[in-house]
Amino acid sequence: MEISWDELNRQIAACEKCGLCRQIRHKVPGQGNPHASLMLIGEGPGRDEDESGLAFVGRAGQLLTRMLAAIRLSREEVYICNVVKCRPPDNRTPMPEEAEACLPYLRMQFALVRPKVILLLGATAGRYVLGDDFRVTRDRGRFVQKGGIWFMPTYHPAALLRDESKKREAWADLKQVMAKLDELKG
Ligand code: URA
Repeated sequence: MEISWDELNRQIAACEKCGLCRQIRHKVPGQGNPHASLMLIGEGPGRDEDESGLAFVGRAGQLLTRMLAAIRLSREEVYICNVVKCRPPDNRTPMPEEAEACLPYLRMQFALVRPKVILLLGATAGRYVLGDDFRVTRDRGRFVQKGGIWFMPTYHPAALLRDESKKREAWADLKQVMAKLDELKG
């Protein structure tokens, strides 16, 4: 039987499956429309997210909000979460054992939201959702269909802040997402 949101949030709040929870201020389970057609997955909370308990609220998150607005979506319409729900120290990439420990929560989020399209933001989301050999520069911009969901890998917004020249490709990826959502609306 499917888990409820309350039970999932209770499990995340109580989780001690890896060491990350020892050094955080807040867990960051994710937020947004619980029945969104579009779900977004990042890597893990940063400092602003750890302080607020909300995903993507810092600089990268503000860029993400503008990117969504460009495809006429508000943050309230989509569901936004991360591979890991606790901030890795100094914003390092989550270790494989940390990501693996947290993945069951992401899978439960897929099952509850039942999105049509998932935007994978950056290499960590791509790797843990699509597989170990994922490379963002090679694989971004092409839909992968798995278990009835369309996955679009693209750059992480933090990468776009570091290198503005990537924005053109990210915009092309977003336009494909917009077209797919329109096609699936039917
Ligand atoms: N980067 C991420 O991957 N996730 C957040 O929530 C914030 C920054």
